[in-house]
Amino acid sequence: MTKTMTAVEISEPGGPEVLRAATRPVPEPGAGQILIRVAYAGVNRPDALQRAGNYAPPPDASDLPGLEASGVVADVGPGVTEWAVGDEVCALLPGGGYAEYAVTSARHALPVPRPLGLKEAACLPETYFTVWTNVFMRGGLRGGERFLVHGGSSGIGTTAIQLAKQAGARVFATAGSAEKCRVCTELGAERAINYRDEDFVEVVRAEGGADLILDMVGGDYIPRNVKALADDGRLVMIAFLSGAKAELNFAQVMVRRLTLTGSTLRPQSEQAKAEIAEGLREWVWPMLEAGQVAPVMDSIFPLDKAAEAHARLESSEHIGKIVLEVAP
Ligand SMILES: NC(=O)c1ccc[n+]([C@@H]2O[C@H](COP(=O)([O-])OP(=O)(O)OC[C@H]3O[C@@H](n4cnc5c(N)ncnc54)[C@H](OP(=O)(O)O)[C@@H]3O)[C@@H](O)[C@H]2O)c1
Repeated sequence: MTKTMTAVEISEPGGPEVLRAATRPVPEPGAGQILIRVAYAGVNRPDALQRAGNYAPPPDASDLPGLEASGVVADVGPGVTEWAVGDEVCALLPGGGYAEYAVTSARHALPVPRPLGLKEAACLPETYFTVWTNVFMRGGLRGGERFLVHGGSSGIGTTAIQLAKQAGARVFATAGSAEKCRVCTELGAERAINYRDEDFVEVVRAEGGADLILDMVGGDYIPRNVKALADDGRLVMIAFLSGAKAELNFAQVMVRRLTLTGSTLRPQSEQAKAEIAEGLREWVWPMLEAGQVAPVMDSIFPLDKAAEAHARLESSEHIGKIVLEVAP
């Protein structure tokens, strides 16, 4: 097998232009790992944060960006029984997706759902792992509850709306334009709130308050989220696009029995991510197989146009996922 590969690396911290083509050694799968010949790689906000120098990869992860990919298993490390060379997979990666080959734990890969191709499957791992662990495992969303997701048209948002709807929740979403709001309602939100025109706190409180909020905005949304929660409500924070600091009256947390929590996926243990994958395989993959949920794809860029893909992501004009075509 070839010893080197084409990849896109972060040449220095900065804007999209610091993403450069590079030649790197093909990584070798260690014990329990698989080597994937990457067909498509998903583009996510955390990649842009890493590129800007604000999200260092964990010490044992590739320094190349890319947290998810679809492709074909090209090699397996010692002890791998789940997969064989030639299997089509989509997988959560610790990094390194912007390349012709990537390694990851065999337990972080899932089969390509039948109705989808490799292109669509590359959109799944990062957002589905994130939504499953935060909305269902951590947030405990149940049927009949009122669920609010901010950034409803984002990769995370479009996934959260569909999975919450399937769980029987009443779904509310915020987004920054009428077009984005239309997509949120098409995906299953009962009410999409254009935050430029309307106050989400008023809208949600008029319905009795949110039992669960998934937030990626932070900043002044933190006290507003607390106001929007129903008694016993839960707020799960997964990013702070508007900042991580806020002034908050914590008496509200006590008096109304609120839970404030959050998580990041990437630094979690191999075992923790494998447990998320098991939950997805059992509960969510059947929904993908049945066509009840599906990824929303915004656009595809060739690997050597990764900088353009990042510029589109950061423009926030996109709806759903952006994908890099590596070797389809
Ligand atoms: N904690 C974790 O484990 C984890 C894992 C994956 C992703 N994330 C985070 O989840 C968020 C969504 O990820 P994604 O890949 O789905 O990204 P994305 O598609 O780029 O989503 C971000 C969306 O947030 C909305 N937004 C609201 N306020 C914003 C602001 N102040 N600045 C920029 N955008 C704002 C934008 O749409 P509007 O036009 O509606 O404003 C934008 O579409 C990101 O912040 C990412 O870092 C966290």
